[in-house]
Amino acid sequence: MERTFVALKPDAVRRGLIGRIIKRFENRGYKIIGMKMLHPTIEMAKKHYAEHEGKYFYDRLIRYLTSGPIIAMVLQGEDAVHGVRQLMGSTKPGEAEPGTLRADFAQIQEFNIVHGSDSVESAKREIDIYFKPEELCTDWKTITEIVMESEKAAI
Ligand code: RTP
Ligand code: MG
Repeated sequence: MERTFVALKPDAVRRGLIGRIIKRFENRGYKIIGMKMLHPTIEMAKKHYAEHEGKYFYDRLIRYLTSGPIIAMVLQGEDAVHGVRQLMGSTKPGEAEPGTLRADFAQIQEFNIVHGSDSVESAKREIDIYFKPEELCTDWKTITEIVMESEKAAI
């Protein structure tokens, strides 16, 4: 099973969208194995978005991510990195498919409410920035996992 890192960005928290966003991930059946609210430090934000250092939007991106608390999450599931990005939609809300989070809740690329890792390697790196290993709750099963296991066993 794949793990991915998700952050509900400060504007999602300010706008009262936490429940509605998490609901979409739960609907898909992803297992939440880590979740906390925190106010990212500049150091954390710089580590998180290191790949964008030097780009014209970098300083504003760091200010945005550090402008208030976020909800940091680790989700686990089949092809979770790709699946979460699919539920999020395109970086530019205007190009995101209707029904995706960014199409439904955002207008501007800069304030696109949610982050999801873009690869398994990025996910590992990002999870390490926000979570200690002991903060992850892995010793339980979702109903989706139980059903998937029993269905796999039956065919
Ligand atoms: P994220 O990392 O936040 O999940 O977003 P993403 O993969 O869809 O997009 P990425 O290219 O990684 O960009 C990271 C964040 O930087 C802001 N951005 N602004 N003004 C611009 O041209 C521009 N390009 C990117 C967005 O907030 C984007 O989510
Ligand atoms: Mg990205």
